[in-house]
Amino acid sequence: MTLPRMQPSDGVAWITGASSGIGEAVALKLAQRGWTVAITARRLDQLEEIARRAEGLPGRIVAHAGDVTETGSMKAVVDAIESVHGPIALAFVNAGIAPDSEGVLDMAAFEQIIAVNLTGTARALAAVIERMSPRKRGQVAINASVAGYGGLPASSAYGVSKAAAIHLAETLKFEGDRLGIRVQLVNPGWIDTPMTQPKDVPMPFIMSQEEAARRIVDGFEKGGFEITFPRRLSWVMKAVNLLPYPVYFWLIAHGTRRAGAKSP
Ligand SMILES: NC(=O)c1ccc[n+]([C@@H]2O[C@H](COP(=O)([O-])OP(=O)(O)OC[C@H]3O[C@@H](n4cnc5c(N)ncnc54)[C@H](OP(=O)(O)O)[C@@H]3O)[C@@H](O)[C@H]2O)c1
Repeated sequence: MTLPRMQPSDGVAWITGASSGIGEAVALKLAQRGWTVAITARRLDQLEEIARRAEGLPGRIVAHAGDVTETGSMKAVVDAIESVHGPIALAFVNAGIAPDSEGVLDMAAFEQIIAVNLTGTARALAAVIERMSPRKRGQVAINASVAGYGGLPASSAYGVSKAAAIHLAETLKFEGDRLGIRVQLVNPGWIDTPMTQPKDVPMPFIMSQEEAARRIVDGFEKGGFEITFPRRLSWVMKAVNLLPYPVYFWLIAHGTRRAGAKSP
């Protein structure tokens, strides 16, 4: 089924995790392209400062504080945005956290990362899909990571949360086709944001958040299921995952040990 790609005239855009990094840059890029963008995160002061920076752009940015880990929070945020600014046509579900370093199944870190990156993602999606479904119209994109393609060293929580986010997007694609909602999956490699500071380990092909935002917003406009970049990293990682497990484990273990890299 061919579903429409949402335009600024269809309603507002909503971004979770937009007080810094990729979410901030995507908000500014969408405002440059004429969207009214509602941005959500816990730090309201940061959100308001980003909204001020959008003044003078063709679109505008409005701030709505919200924590994706709180039950009912995303439904309240979506209700508030729609009652003030109109229907959400495009949602970029992006909020996420990564540990500085991961131990083997450190359960406190594991539960926190799953609460934000997986349960929080599902909570935001549920709130906005509930609104879009009766309208049979809308576009949602989930920010996962190339780290979700397959198991990587020292990534038992972050990698699992991103693998699950990829699986969730694939599953929702079927539901979205039935409901009239375009579902997309964003899988970035390393992006230069607060999440990747300090850059004390190699991060091959690291990209600026502005360039990442341009690729993501271009991807929203093109409408394909997966938006992934830089291509040379994501295609290598896809190809490696097609190899037999002994070869996969050997390549990843040797490659990451030599480079000292951590997951994107
Ligand atoms: N940077 C990379 O290399 C890279 C690569 C692949 C994928 N990603 C993914 O891209 C997304 C954005 O990451 P980033 O690199 O832009 O990092 P970032 O600058 O640290 O941004 C993370 C955002 O998530 C928000 N957030 C964290 N916990 C939250 C919560 N409980 N409720 C609501 N918002 C919350 C943060 O805002 P508050 O603290 O104000 O709440 C912030 O706006 C993440 O899902 C990340 O996994 C990043």
